[in-house]
Amino acid sequence: MSKRVAILFSGSGSNMVALIDSMTGDHPARPVVAVCNNADAGGLAKAEARGVPTEGIDHRPFKGDRAAFESVLNETLARHAPDIICFAGFMRIFTDTFISHWQGRMINIHPSLLPKYRGLNTHARALEAGEAEAGCTVHEVTLELDDGPILGQARVPVLPGDTPQTLAARVLEQEHILYPAVLRRFAAGDRTPIRLP
Ligand code: GRF
Repeated sequence: MSKRVAILFSGSGSNMVALIDSMTGDHPARPVVAVCNNADAGGLAKAEARGVPTEGIDHRPFKGDRAAFESVLNETLARHAPDIICFAGFMRIFTDTFISHWQGRMINIHPSLLPKYRGLNTHARALEAGEAEAGCTVHEVTLELDDGPILGQARVPVLPGDTPQTLAARVLEQEHILYPAVLRRFAAGDRTPIRLP
């Protein structure tokens, strides 16, 4: 039986789209819901256009009460009964209770070569540090932010004249290749890390 995948995102949802589009044919998983905390994000329409049920849960009315937000999120997720949760640019930090509940079933993409540059503004920080290469990481979500066993990494060169924007665009292209490749493997029960290229 196919694994049921929930995708959580906040922004444009390009990784969400790459994941949805990958789950066809003999893929061991299928998308069951796309959840966004930002109704203006535009990504929900892309999921709907692909026939994937969507849920919008605006975090703002919860005014920083993370447990209350997560309680609604948990109810929403429970209705779709996912086996796997993919975070694809979901810009909320979770309580330990939420993480412990779903641990082992959650994966995330982060736009750096972890363990370098956890947190935000990864590309600007990599450029400031004079890195010769950058990239992205898919990892299991554990209690520490942007930590957890690494399931895959893709590298790109840093080029002369790069700005955070040009570097982000080069990394994002790789995110769209790496994340579907890792999800396919993870859904089949294989946690062997993928290295690209
Ligand atoms: C990606 O760079 C991802 O690595 C980060 O947030 C961004 C989301 O982009 N976590 P998109 O919404 O998938 O286009």
